[in-house]
Amino acid sequence: MKDAQPQAIYLADYQVPDFLIDKTELLFQLDPEQTRVATTLRMRRNPKSEASDAPLILNGQDMLLEQVTLNGRVLSGDEYSADDQYLTIHQPGDDFVLETVVVINPAANTSLEGLYKSRTMFCTQCEAEGFRKITYYLDRPDVLSEFVTRIEADKSEFPVLLSNGNRIDAGELEQGRHFAVWHDPFRKPAYLFALVAGTLSVVEDTFTTCSGRQVDLKIFVEEKDLDKCDHAMMSLKNSMRWDEEVYGREYDLDIFMIVAVDDFNMGAMENKGLNIFNTSCVLAKPETTTDAGFQRVEGVVAHEYFHNWSGNRVTCRDWFQLSLKEGFTVFRDAEFSADMNSATVKRVEDVSLLRTMQFAEDGGPMAHPVRPPSFIEISNFYTLTIYEKGAEVVRMIHTLLGQKTFRKGSDLYFDRHDGEAATIEDFVAAMEQASGRDLTQFKLWYSQAGTPELHVSDSYDEAAQQYRLVIEQRCPDTPEASAEEKLPMHIPVAIGLLGDAGNLAIHLQGALPDTETPDNTHRVLELTEARQEFVFNQLPEKPVPALLRGFSAPVKLHYDYSRDELMRLMSAEDDGFCRWDAAQQLAVEVIYDAMQAWRDHQEFVVDARLVQAYRSVLSDKSLDKAMVSLMLQLPSEAYLSELADSIDVEAIHFGRREVRRQIAEALKFELSEAYAENNPETVYKASAEQIAQRSLKNVCLSYLLLLDESIGINLAQQQFSQANNMTDTIAALHGLLGADPHKAQDLADQALANFYQRWQQEALVVNQWLMAQAICSLPDGVARVEKLMSHEAFDLKNPNKVRSLIGAFCNNNAINFHIESGEGYRFLADQIITLNKLNPQIAARLVTPLTKWRKYDAARQQLMKNELERIRSTEELSKDVFEVVTKSL
Ligand code: PHE
Ligand code: ZN
Repeated sequence: MKDAQPQAIYLADYQVPDFLIDKTELLFQLDPEQTRVATTLRMRRNPKSEASDAPLILNGQDMLLEQVTLNGRVLSGDEYSADDQYLTIHQPGDDFVLETVVVINPAANTSLEGLYKSRTMFCTQCEAEGFRKITYYLDRPDVLSEFVTRIEADKSEFPVLLSNGNRIDAGELEQGRHFAVWHDPFRKPAYLFALVAGTLSVVEDTFTTCSGRQVDLKIFVEEKDLDKCDHAMMSLKNSMRWDEEVYGREYDLDIFMIVAVDDFNMGAMENKGLNIFNTSCVLAKPETTTDAGFQRVEGVVAHEYFHNWSGNRVTCRDWFQLSLKEGFTVFRDAEFSADMNSATVKRVEDVSLLRTMQFAEDGGPMAHPVRPPSFIEISNFYTLTIYEKGAEVVRMIHTLLGQKTFRKGSDLYFDRHDGEAATIEDFVAAMEQASGRDLTQFKLWYSQAGTPELHVSDSYDEAAQQYRLVIEQRCPDTPEASAEEKLPMHIPVAIGLLGDAGNLAIHLQGALPDTETPDNTHRVLELTEARQEFVFNQLPEKPVPALLRGFSAPVKLHYDYSRDELMRLMSAEDDGFCRWDAAQQLAVEVIYDAMQAWRDHQEFVVDARLVQAYRSVLSDKSLDKAMVSLMLQLPSEAYLSELADSIDVEAIHFGRREVRRQIAEALKFELSEAYAENNPETVYKASAEQIAQRSLKNVCLSYLLLLDESIGINLAQQQFSQANNMTDTIAALHGLLGADPHKAQDLADQALANFYQRWQQEALVVNQWLMAQAICSLPDGVARVEKLMSHEAFDLKNPNKVRSLIGAFCNNNAINFHIESGEGYRFLADQIITLNKLNPQIAARLVTPLTKWRKYDAARQQLMKNELERIRSTEELSKDVFEVVTKSL
């Protein structure tokens, strides 16, 4: 049994549960090595189940069963059976009380799933299937139950005892122990259960809801982190208000708690009334946290809070529906962040992530639809496709329906399914009913994997003043279906038409004028066929089309812009995303030129138009600084790799670098000036305005560091020693580490030592120190990282450290990770093999860079495959790693 190959499970096999759990009572007697869990379940047969005499099969793993009691009678060994996955009660009856007592070992639980210890604290993580490591249960999201949880623990070591809902009792016990009892009035699936016990300090506030109820807000942290909670608290209150205003959703309990833990596999978890957060997603203060860190805290706090409705009040029927809660909630938190900060910047950041990482996933061996038809290990499906592409699919519905109708649809969805476990079908049905539209074809977005490619061509008839756009769509092969099997999708393509003096009015043939924009210069074209023609009348000149405004669909769009047309879009187009995207496209073309020259050992000179475009962006004082900063950043190596059919690691790295160097040479003056102008002495604020300024300044610095003269190094050194915030400190550190070692080696070493000396007590800052070294592109990266693996600051059991050092190195340091000797691959495989035993989820995630082997040259392909095979042949391979490795070979 144990050594059998892990099996896939299929959406098509879904069946309703045979039993329901009306009430769940838990008693935890906490002890690091031997925690006793006594569970009382009031159960009955599910009237909707067809198997009226089915045995009761409960999930349970890694536990010692002490006793089973049915309706008060202790069961004998032949009345039940237990193996390493299930407890089966052969004849439970129709309506009964089942009691079990099990013993578990939290201290030995390094998977960080179930009940485990993080430093001195007990905490839980139950999504997706962690509750089965706590007690025997129907561990599936469509079984909703009322929970009462009693926690007993040593009082001096664990003074704070928390679980979901309201605390209804507490008191003293013998031998220095105490207890607390929590009751959650809202029925929920087990994956939303949480328990925390430890020595915790608390920051408190209140929020008055739209109906006038007062909610207590509490953030629990270690005492040393009490000064890092303000930003999370403010973000929480903003989220609560926003969800009332934008979605009409009010918070339901009288208390909302967040707990920060150091050891956590993901960002955070939306447990009902008791969110558990990775410290990296809740703690923030200027001296220790970068601007990106502040924004991440705001976004994740909002995300988890929004789950209270999209996920908790309405949950998922089964894990194939994961994107029902995740895609929708990511869309919600993205709109929130857009409202709190710069909407264009947020959109550009999200699209960048999608186009680099999600497109790569969608084009690789792990590609899966937003609603996957099968999986081996659900933990492997917390992916960019489920989250980010899922959010794009919801955004497209929003675009097609418009804000008001979308809101009608979401109200209907929440009302209709409140307290239930729903499906993606249910969500779309509510949107259809609210709008009266047929979304049948649109639903292909949920079932077809792969990134659709759009090819756009056009023509202009001057005599008729008519302009034609022809759009063709095609979805590429993915593991579950070939391109030929795929059907055309329903794709919203938002456009504008740019004339000499600005955006032109749009008269789409066969359509009424658009009512959403007063001046009629914006249009959402609905592409539904493989090839479709759109005709525009009354056009006095041939326009430059602005295509896919706001990135209205997650597709790859091809249109043959000339470089001059891209320059015009960059300066004159209304839509900020399209302006940025034009800059990216122009830069990509220039980098391609540089890569070609690099391969041919030819002289290369950057196209003067790119320099000119950057110069005007830099000198136009009317522009939003956040936009300037974004426009000046060349497409990343990761994005260039995603675009390539076959990745030329060296050409991308050195070609791109040469383009940057020449831009720095040509714009030395403008960059220095912009650096100086945006380096005021101010009290730090995580405001959009200040963030934009710092971002622009640090982009300028990164260019200046490429110059032969030492102006950049001097600025970086000065910034490193004078900065009053982590954004500037870390930018300077990155700068010094990446600078020419002949000039900066000593400075870089000193900076690293100073930095560590200053911050060694702050785990999250030390992680940034590890990451800065991990992504440094100077030679000998593998050796540097290996050395850091044995530094006191590193700990393989802590996921944040693994991500900061190993993850960052393998994903963001291509020139070192892909070194021709293959030592980067060997290093990674070694770590995966060790982590496979300690923490399978983290191990499986680390495999990603190796799964992309098909995109490299023959020699690297062989080396990467060898390592995948070495991992596959490891003994006791976890389901998690098994699935990723076998699917990618
Ligand atoms: N549900 C969490 C979120 O996206 C993510 C998560 C999944 C956390 C699994 C832990 C484990 O908000
Ligand atoms: Zn989520």
